[in-house]
Amino acid sequence: MASGAESSDPAGAAGISPAFRALLDAEPLAGLTVLDVGTGWGRLALLLAPRSGRVVGVDREAGLIEEARRRASSAGVANVRFVVGDVEVEELVPFRPDAVVAHLCMSDAIIERAARALAPGRMFAFVAFHRDQWRETGRRSRFAYDEAQARRALARAAFAVEHLQVEREVRAFASVEEGLAAAGAFEEKWKAEGRWSRYVKFLEEGGRTLTRSHLVVKARRT
Ligand SMILES: C[S@@+](CC[C@H](N)C(=O)[O-])C[C@H]1O[C@@H](n2cnc3c(N)ncnc32)[C@H](O)[C@@H]1O
Repeated sequence: MASGAESSDPAGAAGISPAFRALLDAEPLAGLTVLDVGTGWGRLALLLAPRSGRVVGVDREAGLIEEARRRASSAGVANVRFVVGDVEVEELVPFRPDAVVAHLCMSDAIIERAARALAPGRMFAFVAFHRDQWRETGRRSRFAYDEAQARRALARAAFAVEHLQVEREVRAFASVEEGLAAAGAFEEKWKAEGRWSRYVKFLEEGGRTLTRSHLVVKARRT
């Protein structure tokens, strides 16, 4: 998950969609406590820190939290705190967040916990994998939502949706080799997840696409 672009991109903006950033930019965060769930190495937390009161990033992977702390320190960002924790098991209430954000880490358990932690009027914004993400690999991520499913989960948790869009990019290839090369960076991960052989089969049977599809959401606690 760590990126080699740290020195040229200390705030971690690379890889976060412009649409999501625009939604966050429109939100006044000065003086507020922002909670970034599934923070990874702190990409989103470090992006938001300069315009927030303080940011807390939580991730269950201790190694990623160490990396996030190292990046915050080397970028001189003092108003972030990174904590090891499981956001689908632990409550978010103790963090006393004024806003909850998440980038590619979403589940009904997280939505429910965000709802319990936020006061009415407070923002919950996230990017989630859409169900069509890497559809050519034949497996849906456990974090994936479609539009209706996301709307239902948010409504159940008393969030009013202000913005919901699908960002989709379908890459097309001229050959099997091109398709394999495009997914080369994922080979080990996909092998571990049982996706790789299904993607190879898809290409061998004439498939020539690879789909990236994300859901971008901004909601408010009612
Ligand atoms: C696809 S990565 C995204 C990381 C980061 N938000 C980013 O965009 O760079 C998903 C992250 O969620 C974390 N994660 C998944 N389930 C979690 C849970 N239940 N509690 C805390 N972190 C979790 C993983 O460890 C991983 O770092």
